[in-house]
Amino acid sequence: MASLGELTRQHSTLTADQSAHLQRLVSDWGMLADLCFADVLLYLPSQDGRWLVIAHVRPVTGQTIYIADWVGEWASTTETEVLGEAFRSGSIVEHDVKVESVPEPVSVLAIPVSHKGVPIAVLTRESSPRIGRLPGELETTYLSIFDRFATMIQEGSYPFATRSMISAAPRVGDGAMVLDEDARVRYASPNAVSVLHRLGITSNLVGMHLAELGFNDGSVASSYERREPVLEEFDRINSDDVSVLTYSIPLLSAGEVTGGVLLLRDVTELRRRDRLLLSKDATIREIHHRVKNNLQTISSLLRLQSRRLTNTEAKAAVNESVRRIRTIALVHETLSREAGDDVAFIEIVRPLMRLAEEGLQSPDRPVRFVVRGDGGKLPATVATPLSVVLTELLQNAVDHGFPEGSSGGTVVVVLANDGKQLKIEVFDDGLGVAPDFHIENATGLGLVIVRTLVTTELAGKIAMRQATSTELQEAGLTVPNRGAGTVVELTVPL
Ligand SMILES: Nc1ncnc2c1ncn2[C@@H]1O[C@H](COP(=O)(O)OP(=O)(O)OP(=O)(O)O)[C@@H](O)[C@H]1O
Ligand SMILES: [Mg+2]
Repeated sequence: MASLGELTRQHSTLTADQSAHLQRLVSDWGMLADLCFADVLLYLPSQDGRWLVIAHVRPVTGQTIYIADWVGEWASTTETEVLGEAFRSGSIVEHDVKVESVPEPVSVLAIPVSHKGVPIAVLTRESSPRIGRLPGELETTYLSIFDRFATMIQEGSYPFATRSMISAAPRVGDGAMVLDEDARVRYASPNAVSVLHRLGITSNLVGMHLAELGFNDGSVASSYERREPVLEEFDRINSDDVSVLTYSIPLLSAGEVTGGVLLLRDVTELRRRDRLLLSKDATIREIHHRVKNNLQTISSLLRLQSRRLTNTEAKAAVNESVRRIRTIALVHETLSREAGDDVAFIEIVRPLMRLAEEGLQSPDRPVRFVVRGDGGKLPATVATPLSVVLTELLQNAVDHGFPEGSSGGTVVVVLANDGKQLKIEVFDDGLGVAPDFHIENATGLGLVIVRTLVTTELAGKIAMRQATSTELQEAGLTVPNRGAGTVVELTVPL
């Protein structure tokens, strides 16, 4: 179905300013329907003299008379007369009208919507005159408030020129108070009284200033002063926490504040759930923290064990495991600092490089580590195996690219994340792999781990080969005279 904006554009010649006025009107008009206990519709005059329904809202405080949705439909001939009369005269008119789908006549109150002195549309309240309602105090009060809004719509002072009502704002049914021009309570709905009870206010309300009642009246004061609605939430924190959301709307007459409506909603339960969610987040972080601690304990135990080993091969194998476990611990440490389940990958890459740097045994062959680009945010399920992969690749560059006796060099990691896939390239200007090297045939544990993680866990691709001299130069590396240098490219779908 077409939106209000589209319908306005198709069927009228309203300016952007005028059309924005109508948008603001419907953005918070649930309140209007609630106040008059009836369906509220907005009609737009088309160039050929007909009237188009461009918006419709039903009350939550009363019964709708229209099961069907009228948006996009044209008004009947009898309705057209009422609408035209209100539009031309600029005054509010009321008539009984015959509507096709409704057996009884429908009472239509037509209010011209004016913007900067020009009528641009007509808003109607449509109800069955036969629906007999108890003329209780709530009813008469709300209807009289509706009338005041109707006058404001006719004068052009409602909707307010500023930002319109926020969808989270309370509705009339949540609790409503009517205030006079001095912000004294004239009326409070039963739900509003309940909200005030929750705040510990049990005294008689009518005739009292909000401040006298011990009620935070800051939002009312500023809405009166600024002549525009103010949304505010406040908490009473003592015996038990109570959070109340208030929406203060000034009622204007010829530019002067003549009173106000204060909508109240008890949001204590909502806020309690928010806090619970927050603490859940904290719990997840705490768990990551503990996993990290446990992994560090395991790696310390392994290190202790390796010290007792005499067989150098066994010692090296256990030390490798220590390194791999430390890598995973590092991911959990990063996750324990992040709010969600995602980690900024660069936050892991940097410490991984530091780990590889620390692992360098001899200072006679310095290896420089550089990272380019940014891997973006990655889910933990991707970041963890990738960190293990990267550790192996960095370690290989150090171990095999710059072995004992070489003069050292540079390792560059290039990251690129386009939202669909992550591309990682690891260059080193070391000895290089053999020209006939194929990663598929590599049997060392390191590359087997790399291959398995990339192809199965991450469903990605990996290639490893001698780097060309142009590639090395582009990556900012010096072309080694002794060998070729190595490049590992891997892509992981996200
Ligand atoms: N950056 C590199 N430069 C040169 N050769 C490399 C490089 N990376 C890997 N290689 C070669 O590939 C072989 C296999 O590497 P792999 O990581 O699988 O085993 P490893 O490093 O020897 O042992 P580990 O299981 O401890 O990692 C290496 O022995 C080395 O010959
Ligand atoms: Mg290795």
